[in-house]
Amino acid sequence: MGPPREARADDSDLDSNAPLLPAPVPSSSAASTPTSSSTKPSSSRTRVAWLVVACFGVGLLWLAFGTSYLDRKDRSAHWEGDPSFPSRVGYEGPTPTGKEAFAAATSYPSNFDSHPLHPPAQLANRKFNILHHLGNLSPWRTVNHGLRTTAQVPEGCTVEEVQLLHRHGARYPTTGAGTESFAKNVVGAEGFKASGNLSFLNGWEYKLGAEILTPFGREQLFNLGVSFRTKYGHLLREGQRPVFRTESQDRMHASALNFAAGFWGIPFEDKYHQLVTIEWPAFNNTLAPYMTCTNANRVDLTLGPRKMAQWMKRYLEGARARLQEQVEGVELSHRDVFDMQLLCAYELVALGGSAFCSLFTEDEWRGFEYAHDIEFFDIFSFGQPAQAAVGKGWVQEWLARTLKQPLSDFNSTTNATLHTPGYFPLDQRLYVDATHDTIVSAVLTTLGFSSFARSGPLPTDRIPEDLSFVTSSISPFAANLHSQVLSCPGKKEGSSRFVRWILNDGVVPLDSVDGCGEDPEGLCPLGAFVEVTQTRLQSIDWAHDCLAEYDLPKEPILDGRPPHS
Ligand SMILES: *[C@@H]1O[C@H](CO)[C@@H](O)[C@H](O)[C@H]1NC(C)=O
Ligand SMILES: *[C@@H]1O[C@H](CO)[C@@H](O)[C@H](O)[C@H]1NC(C)=O
Ligand SMILES: *[C@@H]1O[C@H](CO)[C@@H](O)[C@H](O)[C@H]1NC(C)=O
Ligand SMILES: *[C@@H]1O[C@H](CO)[C@@H](O)[C@H](O)[C@H]1NC(C)=O
Repeated sequence: MGPPREARADDSDLDSNAPLLPAPVPSSSAASTPTSSSTKPSSSRTRVAWLVVACFGVGLLWLAFGTSYLDRKDRSAHWEGDPSFPSRVGYEGPTPTGKEAFAAATSYPSNFDSHPLHPPAQLANRKFNILHHLGNLSPWRTVNHGLRTTAQVPEGCTVEEVQLLHRHGARYPTTGAGTESFAKNVVGAEGFKASGNLSFLNGWEYKLGAEILTPFGREQLFNLGVSFRTKYGHLLREGQRPVFRTESQDRMHASALNFAAGFWGIPFEDKYHQLVTIEWPAFNNTLAPYMTCTNANRVDLTLGPRKMAQWMKRYLEGARARLQEQVEGVELSHRDVFDMQLLCAYELVALGGSAFCSLFTEDEWRGFEYAHDIEFFDIFSFGQPAQAAVGKGWVQEWLARTLKQPLSDFNSTTNATLHTPGYFPLDQRLYVDATHDTIVSAVLTTLGFSSFARSGPLPTDRIPEDLSFVTSSISPFAANLHSQVLSCPGKKEGSSRFVRWILNDGVVPLDSVDGCGEDPEGLCPLGAFVEVTQTRLQSIDWAHDCLAEYDLPKEPILDGRPPHS
């Protein structure tokens, strides 16, 4: 791999994205942004500064031209269609509805939906399913986090309240991801010619968009809405229009509306209030907290990109050599080969199938998956020192809803303007918030769910056995984390109210959380959990962790916080 190729891989980093990309490292795009080990702190800060400047540039352009676009969009949302095709003509027939479902208490359903994705048969069988090994690009499915129990409401308990934090559905690559660069700079290079298993590349066309949901991604959110209505519809209060929250980014807004269509049925507009908060640099937003937490985006504060590059060199060397034999005119880098794996994942969720998938062995797919585990651990959760602070705002809001006590301090990513009883009610029994993959992983860090950090620091020469941090189980497409506050009188001495956390249908073990103790059903006494969470939130100094100048310490970070006494 010659130096110029390395340089090109580096160029796919932050600054080449900047003019196009509103968010610094908003989401899962970082799989496409490893930086070389030679990246110096100062140059990375310059990159970030550059990015901020670029973002403001984009912001100004938006103010100048974007608002008229918004007006248009707004109007089209109320557009009633061609009057010759009226939507309400009467004659509906009988329309009685039934009672609310409560499947969470009766027969908690599992989810393995991946229709209409069609991976090659040799990679989608009972022993190995590639869809489970695509890191944050996997479709979500029911998983297990080590407890032998289901998320069904335990015997003797009733659910008082549920708070759901979910990710958007399957999307096209984020702007500037390696897939497009592969199309332009490898397949599009002068003299490129492929043979053997790679012959398809001679007639291949890049068909992916960027950022927005794919049709399958829309289906995932619709289904998630159906699923939550069927599991927890019983918690809705008659006559109450609950507030569900999402952000302004297109795929976030579209995810929330698809969820609503599944949850409420259409038309859903008069059933609830959809709060759309602004996701843009410098706006306080607990669902897009990296927009104000500068240190979360500093490449010198994470080992992730370097470790990913090391791991790629290791697990992809065989594939690189093998594929190179079938390519003329271009020297393939490890990064190029990784981009081919990304193309399999993205073509699958966008086009339903991909010729890239069968170019790789099962072990190479396990390697691909582990690259994402390194990425998410070291950049977006336990291994990066600002991540507990990144999740702080949402956890403060979780606590406010759980205790039914409004927030009074706004010194993290919370936005006081949005903390009125109208925008942030405390009397719902079911709350729904839409966010990004990296926030789900950050929130686990803030909550101190250290069972996920057990395998850390993650090595780059092998995949640890019994790996505790598996991105496809944590932050896949349409990932969903929810808490159940339960009343279980007589269940245990000393407490009758409990909380438990359910991540992608798997109950999270809480024995690593102080005061919870071991429980086969993942229950923690609510009082103990609230107390330990309050103490933790108080000890996370958002302004310091997110904004202060500090260096990455020599000792590995395993709790998402800078060294503290
Ligand atoms: C082509 O792919 C098949 C199966 O995917 C594999 O067995 C074979 O070794 C590959 N050929 C080359 C030249 O890589
Ligand atoms: C808070 O949210 C409101 C409404 O989205 C927005 O207008 C305001 O700029 C936000 N404030 C901050 C500090 O981000
Ligand atoms: C931030 O708010 C917390 C309470 O949530 C309070 O204890 C702390 O003193 C505040 N910090 C600053 C710097 O204002
Ligand atoms: C936005 O966040 C900053 C930093 O925590 C805080 O000082 C400010 O008061 C917040 N603004 C609002 C409107 O909540």
